[in-house]
Amino acid sequence: MTASSEPEDSGAPPFDPEDYRRTLGCFATGVTIITTRQLNGECAGLTVNSFNSVSLDPPLVLWSLSLFSQSLLAFQEASHFAVNILAVDQVELSNRFATRRDDKFDGLEYTLDECGVPLLAGCAAHLVCRQQYRHYGGDHIIFIGRVASFARTDREPLVFCQGDYRVARPLPPDKLPGGSK
Ligand SMILES: Cc1cc2nc3c(=O)[nH]c(=O)nc-3n(C[C@H](O)[C@H](O)[C@H](O)COP(=O)(O)O)c2cc1C
Repeated sequence: MTASSEPEDSGAPPFDPEDYRRTLGCFATGVTIITTRQLNGECAGLTVNSFNSVSLDPPLVLWSLSLFSQSLLAFQEASHFAVNILAVDQVELSNRFATRRDDKFDGLEYTLDECGVPLLAGCAAHLVCRQQYRHYGGDHIIFIGRVASFARTDREPLVFCQGDYRVARPLPPDKLPGGSK
């Protein structure tokens, strides 16, 4: 694993932060919980929608973690992480992992992958990644992982857009090119 640069100076942004957040919220994403297991055996994880694919060959993915996250040290030290892609009926789980608390994994159903990372039950899909690169970007660290294994189900994925959880639906025919008006 290599780290690129140190945190940058943060000057005040030349625009309204709330307006900026709302604009970013126009970009619909899925919802993931990124998990890992610390050297002391404790599990760590948080809800993340900055996940994305970087490269198919080699298979690389990225996500970014706030420097203020309680999980920061766990992910900085981890050799592997899992991307748990949430299904539509996992909003409660998403909210649990989007809250700063020490008991996120209490009473939860999960298995440990052969790389030792927690795979949460009931997800739409999982990817297990080896941490490969790390870049500082403002108030976040971008983790890039190389996919070691993955699995998917036919569960419908959860969507996050404009600050709300949603479901993905096919466009009605009249919204498709050449569709009826
Ligand atoms: C839909 C959604 C997406 C989120 N995406 C991210 C993200 O990409 N990176 C991040 O650092 N926090 C993200 N968060 C916020 C964290 O989940 C939240 O701050 C959490 O409490 C962090 O937990 P921790 O402090 O125990 O690590 C997201 C929250 C929600 C609800």
